[in-house]
Amino acid sequence: MSNRARLEALLALINSAAQQAMALYEQVDGTVPSIDSAEFHPLDEALDQVELKVAVRTLEGACAQLCTTLAPPGHTAINLVQVYDYSCVRLAVRENITNILMDYPKGLHVNELAKKIKVEPKKLSRIMRLLATRGCYSEVAKDVYANTRLSLVLHSENPVRHMVNLHTESASKGGALIYENLKEPRTAYSYHPDHCPVMVANNKEGITGAFFDWMRQRDSTRESYHRSMQGLSIIMGSSAVLTQFPFNNYSTVVDVGGGIGAFSLPLAKVHKHVKITVHDLPEALTQARSVWARDCPEAIQEHRVEFSELDFFAQMPVAGQDIYYLRNIIHDWPDEESLLILRNVRKAMGPHSRVLIHDYVVRQVNREQAALEASKFGATMAPEPMLPNFGVGNIRMYQQDVTMFIMHNAKERTLPEFLELSDAAGLKLEKIWDLSEACVLEYTAA
Ligand SMILES: C[S@@+](CC[C@H](N)C(=O)[O-])C[C@H]1O[C@@H](n2cnc3c(N)ncnc32)[C@H](O)[C@@H]1O
Repeated sequence: MSNRARLEALLALINSAAQQAMALYEQVDGTVPSIDSAEFHPLDEALDQVELKVAVRTLEGACAQLCTTLAPPGHTAINLVQVYDYSCVRLAVRENITNILMDYPKGLHVNELAKKIKVEPKKLSRIMRLLATRGCYSEVAKDVYANTRLSLVLHSENPVRHMVNLHTESASKGGALIYENLKEPRTAYSYHPDHCPVMVANNKEGITGAFFDWMRQRDSTRESYHRSMQGLSIIMGSSAVLTQFPFNNYSTVVDVGGGIGAFSLPLAKVHKHVKITVHDLPEALTQARSVWARDCPEAIQEHRVEFSELDFFAQMPVAGQDIYYLRNIIHDWPDEESLLILRNVRKAMGPHSRVLIHDYVVRQVNREQAALEASKFGATMAPEPMLPNFGVGNIRMYQQDVTMFIMHNAKERTLPEFLELSDAAGLKLEKIWDLSEACVLEYTAA
């Protein structure tokens, strides 16, 4: 393919992916969203967004590849690093700017906003202008700002805001220390969770141990962390598992490290026949009980859910259940700890039990490797001339991989890495459920 033909092919992919996304929005209520709309579209809150995510993956990947090809390299290089969006969003979140603007649907002058949050108005206006350039808030008249569909996500009641918070307050601290972590003799070759960049940053403030030890001692950080898992479920489109996996065929589900029930609470609402056990540490379960009492009291009254303390390194989950579900658990731990968890789950399994690991499965960037996985396991490859892993269309799994290093000295895994781990734990891969962003790996006992 000539260089020009490649660019033309990217343009065609952009066009067809965007058409596909528009059609999906229209199927729901006959409309497509606009950048300055101040309301969510009904599709934004759908449980299953797999088709939309498939279209957006191609759209984002092909757009980025086209821009990187056509822009001068210096232009693109500085775009990679001159990024203060997270810092500006941090201000918006800490000062509840979205909540304030809810009372002003026609917009609020930046001078008034500055008075309310006690900052210098001209500085604030530059931050608001940067955010509005990203579509987060809209400048409806000169220096007058209103909410948008994007800024609504920063509202204090929106779970995604808690994941934003975790990044702006913690991950960013560790992210600044990746270089030092790789070079410092104490941490360079260590996979100990205490030695991850964020905890090394915390050590300077006298905080020691691993991320989960730190959270145990801080109620507000822990509560926000558990809410952020409901946010991560929205971000990754993980609730699609509720419609894509045949839960109708199973009657008992164990949510191993289930937190406050980001997975199992919607499961209890959608599949009312299922009996659920939520296993987690005691502090998480205290929060879980009050969340369920508020958001799904019927499951408690009908004895469809049990909350059961478990240290998944030291104990096995409740035995002989149909499904053992581990979402965003294995990615929190290095190999040694992950193997302990999976071996304990394996011990609990009966002959009919299944294990579902729901995580990112990191795609290969190299075309030969990607083709090998596609032919062996049916993994999807991007159409040429896109990078085989959809490039920037899948950037979050690579960013999240680095986040796992920063927060836990852990990682997202490729398929061969998962297989090595699951083989060692005595699990046999039966099927990969590709939910576009993350996958569910379904195992039986080997
Ligand atoms: C990334 S969160 C995932 C929560 C949930 N699976 C979800 O998808 O929302 C990791 C969970 O592991 C739990 N956890 C950490 N260490 C644990 C341990 N030793 N035993 C049991 N659960 C643990 C945390 O409390 C937290 O709820």
